Amino acid sequence: MDDLLRRLREEEFPIVEHCVYLNHAGVGPMSRRSASRMRMLAEWVSCSGDRHWLERQQEAERVRGLAAQLLGAREVHEVAFIENTSSGLSLMAEGLDWKPGDNVVGADFEFPSNIYPWMNLAARGVEFRRAPERDGRIDPEELLALIDERTRMLALSWVQYASGFRSDLARLGRACRERGVLFVVDVIQGLGALPIDVEAEFVDVAVASSHKWLLGAEGIGVLYVSDRVVEQVRPVRAGWRSVRELFQWADFDLTWGEGAKRFESGSLNVYGIVALGGALEILLEAGAGRIEPHVLALAERGAQGFRDLGFEIVSSRAAGETSGIVTAVPPDGRDAAEIAKQLNARNVVLAARAGRLRISPHLYNTEEEIDRCFEVLAECLD
Ligand SMILES: Cc1ncc(COP(=O)(O)O)c(C=O)c1O
Repeated sequence: MDDLLRRLREEEFPIVEHCVYLNHAGVGPMSRRSASRMRMLAEWVSCSGDRHWLERQQEAERVRGLAAQLLGAREVHEVAFIENTSSGLSLMAEGLDWKPGDNVVGADFEFPSNIYPWMNLAARGVEFRRAPERDGRIDPEELLALIDERTRMLALSWVQYASGFRSDLARLGRACRERGVLFVVDVIQGLGALPIDVEAEFVDVAVASSHKWLLGAEGIGVLYVSDRVVEQVRPVRAGWRSVRELFQWADFDLTWGEGAKRFESGSLNVYGIVALGGALEILLEAGAGRIEPHVLALAERGAQGFRDLGFEIVSSRAAGETSGIVTAVPPDGRDAAEIAKQLNARNVVLAARAGRLRISPHLYNTEEEIDRCFEVLAECLD
């Protein structure tokens, strides 16, 4: 672990004093900085009401800029604040002018947030086509083969929550762009741990909540909608923040706000936003170039730990397909959820998903913590 990551571990992550925390694919812990910003804002508002409201809006704009930087967005207004990933995806699903017979292509075995918005379009005559998970992978060729002349959208998680499989965004995005298909990516299981460049990787829409790898709070996230496609998505929610002239309350001019900001219909979750601001500062200070190799090295150490104990690794270990998530099936038909519970009781926190044990380390975790996790796991299996 290099000096900067070690300093961040010591200064910003009090959780390391309580447990070995390897569940960032579930809920990441807030840093000291984020927690104190949120606390301070609550205290401040309790004494001032709306007297400093404008300053909160200015802070939100600063945080929007940090989010745009992390995503590689060309314009800051391409980023909207959103309450969670599911609602961002739903807004995209509902806002397109679908015609009966259109289809959406995606993957099977996704988190429900990436299934239900598209299933829900069946009522509008839209077919949802899914590529299966095979050996822990979503084969890009199989996915692209589902696209035909009626495909309007490819909607996919960047990193799969139950396998950790990382899709090659640039490859899929380029294929979508060539075919005139909208590329909508749930980036929640990668953003904050892995580098992304939405422009270079042909991503049209990206959405993530902040409570996993972004190390922010629950109930606040970011929605990137490229200027290239924003006019194709009708805002299905409209309110005072949806329009260009936010403060002309008597004119009723429904001219949509700039870029993705039109999807923010009302008051922002400023408490979540200040926490997210603290988190983004830390992630940008550390830099994706430092975080990714650290996280991937810890994940690989975890994969070896699983192998040594006779687990069957689900997660692809091929270059370019790995992420911060490693999942494995326990030996001898043992119950993953039961094992996770036993580990938790011994202050090693990971998760069980779909019968698989899942570890998901982040920038402040150490090799020693991974080793400790597998020591305790070995004892649980005895
Ligand atoms: C891939 C993926 N998308 C979405 C979600 C849910 O996000 P939210 O609760 O912010 O809608 C999760 C949560 O585990 C997830 O793994």
